[in-house]
Amino acid sequence: MSETAKLELEGKVYELPVIQGTENEKAIDISKLRDTTGYVTLDSGYKNTGATKSKITFLDGEKGILHYRGYSIEQLAEKATFLEVAYLLIYGELPTQTQLDAFRNSITKHTLVHEDMKQFFEAYPAKAHPMGVLASMVCSMATFYPESLDPNRSAEAKDLTIHRLIAKLPTLAAWSYKNAIRHPFMYPKNDFDYCKNFLYMMFGMPTEDFKVDPVVVEALNKLLILHADHEQNCSTSTVRIVGSSNANLYATISAGISALWGPLHGGANQEVIEMLEKIHNDGGDVDKWVAKAKDKEDPFRLMGFGHRVYKNFDPRAKIIKKACDDILEKLGVNDPMLDIAKKLEKVALEDEYFKARNLYPNVDFYSGIIYKALGIPTEMFTVMFALGRLPGWVAQWKEMTENKEPIGRPRQIYTGATSREYVPIEKR
Ligand code: ACO
Repeated sequence: MSETAKLELEGKVYELPVIQGTENEKAIDISKLRDTTGYVTLDSGYKNTGATKSKITFLDGEKGILHYRGYSIEQLAEKATFLEVAYLLIYGELPTQTQLDAFRNSITKHTLVHEDMKQFFEAYPAKAHPMGVLASMVCSMATFYPESLDPNRSAEAKDLTIHRLIAKLPTLAAWSYKNAIRHPFMYPKNDFDYCKNFLYMMFGMPTEDFKVDPVVVEALNKLLILHADHEQNCSTSTVRIVGSSNANLYATISAGISALWGPLHGGANQEVIEMLEKIHNDGGDVDKWVAKAKDKEDPFRLMGFGHRVYKNFDPRAKIIKKACDDILEKLGVNDPMLDIAKKLEKVALEDEYFKARNLYPNVDFYSGIIYKALGIPTEMFTVMFALGRLPGWVAQWKEMTENKEPIGRPRQIYTGATSREYVPIEKR
């Protein structure tokens, strides 16, 4: 594409290349701007900054479109398994049966974690938040697999590190929960599929046969797929920035998990349920809490509403809302918190404040409700998000390393004090 943008600065005109993506998104390439003009751009929160070219995920916030490698989220959530989607994201194509079998076998082979890591779990207090445990455990994996320290060693070594991580994350996640309730750890059962095995390690007991409703396994499969990637969001950008320093994959993903923990990002699903409980305990007056959310003097926000990029609707929320209705009906769940959620959804969707700002329920609003119905404890919600997002983080990291992207290092506009003399302490 030969189009250029013209920028006039101090009476001089500069031509900047315009680049276009395969879905016709346009960008002004400013990579040489500082060298040619002496200026940088300022964009707090990177709302208008494309940090990379990527072939993994496409989303259109205005039209409510989300594609992984060209396939719509609707089709993938309906027809695929989570491991199939993980393969697609990481390796770029849907796997053949042989490729999928080999991938699944490799993942299954690596589900056990090193016995010495069990001692780490035992040292955490029972009240430790499982996201803190998960981030630490994932980073610790680098100490057990020193061959992972050089992320660019070989394609085979990279694959082994990736497979180990995807295989062990459910084990680490489930054990962080078992540790919190001081129950014995359940070792992975390799004849169960990825989702069923996770549920087994979470809810199984050594003294009982494990039975789980296939509806629950299917719901988990769908939830993980819906969360599998979301292009350059806060945690993924963290992954790409940390990975750009050539840090190993375990340290890099641990940083992504930490970024996801925040309540404005993945932590929102936990906050949704806590908010519903708060409203319930306060007497269930939904209008009062909607008014608080609209009051600029009040820091309260409706958790699970709004999204940085989806300003019409979140396609994942649409799929998950249906799954949510189905699962609540099939499991016969009757929970006052869910009634509050339904009322809140209705009031907010009809309210001018929310309509004017395009604030719709996001994926976290419904995922929190489903996780609650599945019996997953609130503190584990963001861990569930991390399990789903792992293939996306890995794919983005892999792409970045293969493209040999430079270390991430934004600029700033300094607004602090100008040069001044040091003042001895007695004179301050
Ligand atoms: N409740 C009440 N008001 C809100 C909410 C909300 N949940 N979200 C945004 N607003 C208002 C803001 O006060 C602002 O109003 P103003 O224009 O009068 O000042 C306007 O809507 C725009 O909000 P921003 O914060 O500028 O929007 P931004 O795109 O930066 O933030 C975010 C998006 C962080 C998701 C925000 O909507 C939010 O805090 N939502 C609640 C937390 C949440 O659910 N996070 C999960 C996101 S999804 C995910 O990570 C998978």
